[in-house]
Amino acid sequence: MKLGCCYYPEHWPEEIWADDAQRMAEMGLELVRIGEFSWSRIEPEPGQYDWDWLDRAIDTLSQAGLKVILGTPTATPPKWLVDQMPDMIAIDASGNARKFGSRRHYCFSHRPYRDECARIVTAMAERFGKHPAISAWQTDNEYGCHETTISYSHAAAAAFRVWLAQKYDDDVQRLNAAWGNVFWSMEYRSFDEIDPPNLTVTEANPSHVLDYRRFASDEVVSFNRLQAEILRAHSPGRDITHNFMGFVTDFDHHDVGADCDVATWDSYPLGFLEQFWFTDDEKNRYARQGHPDIAAFHHDLYRGCSNGRWAVMEQQPGPVNWARYNPAPLPGMVRLWTLEAMAHGAEFCSFFRWRQAPIAQEQMHAGLLRPDSVEDQGGQEARQAADDIAAIGPLTDTTKSVALLFSYEAAWLFEAQPQGQNFRYIELVFETYSALRQLGLNVDILSPDARFEDHQMIIAPSLPILTDDLVSRLSDTNVPILIGPRSGSKTADFQIPPELAPGPLQSKLPIKVTRVESLRPGLAEESHGEGKIRWFEHIATSLTPERMLKDNTPMVFQSRNIRYLAAWPDAEYMKEIFHKMAMEAKLDLTTLPQDIRIRTADNVRYAFNYGQESVDLTTIFSGADNFKFIVGSSN
Ligand code: GAL
Repeated sequence: MKLGCCYYPEHWPEEIWADDAQRMAEMGLELVRIGEFSWSRIEPEPGQYDWDWLDRAIDTLSQAGLKVILGTPTATPPKWLVDQMPDMIAIDASGNARKFGSRRHYCFSHRPYRDECARIVTAMAERFGKHPAISAWQTDNEYGCHETTISYSHAAAAAFRVWLAQKYDDDVQRLNAAWGNVFWSMEYRSFDEIDPPNLTVTEANPSHVLDYRRFASDEVVSFNRLQAEILRAHSPGRDITHNFMGFVTDFDHHDVGADCDVATWDSYPLGFLEQFWFTDDEKNRYARQGHPDIAAFHHDLYRGCSNGRWAVMEQQPGPVNWARYNPAPLPGMVRLWTLEAMAHGAEFCSFFRWRQAPIAQEQMHAGLLRPDSVEDQGGQEARQAADDIAAIGPLTDTTKSVALLFSYEAAWLFEAQPQGQNFRYIELVFETYSALRQLGLNVDILSPDARFEDHQMIIAPSLPILTDDLVSRLSDTNVPILIGPRSGSKTADFQIPPELAPGPLQSKLPIKVTRVESLRPGLAEESHGEGKIRWFEHIATSLTPERMLKDNTPMVFQSRNIRYLAAWPDAEYMKEIFHKMAMEAKLDLTTLPQDIRIRTADNVRYAFNYGQESVDLTTIFSGADNFKFIVGSSN
């Protein structure tokens, strides 16, 4: 794994570029990402390009032996462009314009803006595409960041109508039937009458919402593809990537990843812990380390997004500026996160950013250097990680243990009709993943369309739309499989299937879901004597349940190698189920202490301590005395 950093030459006097480049190389960095927000400097006036400074910046970095990842600047269109076409900005769900003055102020559906993107990307690719220092391209920056995937602009409405007419073969009656528009007299007479599903009096029709989510995702995919095609044509042999985010499901990353050579993501373990659904106990316990599964979850997710090739484009180097609270990582954590990326197979890990900026929005965000150019804690740990990587040497990883099936469309279905407060798909998947990792298992998070047939155990936390094809692929395997709640509960049009849930799975597992309940916190304790159960399904079947709640309510049903879990229980309960399945699959199981996680490659096993106490690994698994060194928060 190589190390790198994100650098903004346009933020610093040219006199210090060469020294910066030297220091990067001396720290052990080999890659540097630049350019992704530089449009106003490369085209200060419409049609007038100024490439000279960028030529010199690339040459300076290259002379220090660094390879450059060049970002296309389309996340930050300049003011003159927004003024030329004011309707290019996105409109939020409340109908407000998302104005110029920060970044990502564009709507994916605005066709003239896409033309401008194609123009600037072509100009950049023609200029630098064959430069020997350019090793890769990053398209745009963090699609969806600041909730920018979905826009309700006129451009989006017009593109949505075209998308719908195509999907429903120009037959609006087909759309009316698919959406069930007879309900509340929502029928349309033509595609021109259809608006985006915002600003309705009460909730919009979920079928309408789901199609809008699919459409919005397709817009991101085609926006990215336009750039990828230009870059491929002008810059042969260079990898194309996009930097994805944490816990974002607004567009289908598998689809965008299919147009990339490498999937990359931006890893901010402390910021994500603070911003997402974690409990106060977890937030306090891991405030300076990050939850032990946050980084690994995304490593394993994005490895599945671009044929196994992935990397970290931005790694948190110290406190960030954007979470509710922004503590500093404990000493050792930046090094730990870096090696954990290596353990999961990253091609590179690049720190955000080289030097803390004294200007504008991110003044409070640490870099590897302080604003006065003195090396900060993050810089010292990057240096240490570079030595560690050299000492560990290359790893090979051909393991295929657990396949966890993850669907972006499933996330949209949950959001369109959650049926319970905080019923988030990503949280269900994360809890499932965490339960598996607490048993020491390697997990590959895969699209249901990907090949999972070589894995030893398959878990689908929930797939509301189950296709016949997927059911038959699953039942063709002999490995233990678990299908979670709400699976097969909807048709592709967002209707209840005539045979009820779990839909086509009933041909392999004779159960029928007759009623579902979402439970407020504490209710499961009272009614079933169990801890945290937030979703519960009543099942009609002739099968004897394989597992029951304490009050004998059936919860897991099994036929052959396929199990169905008729609830969303807590991680402890899931662990018991997975333990049994992993035994059946003859997987190497280790019940780990709360703060320890491991990752096992062919030739090396990594252990990571997210706690603040030392742990004697020889008491946990054999062979641990051969460990060369253990990385934790203080060593
Ligand atoms: C990322 C973004 C960077 C920077 C960083 C700060 O989301 O890609 O440009 O803003 O966050 O943590």
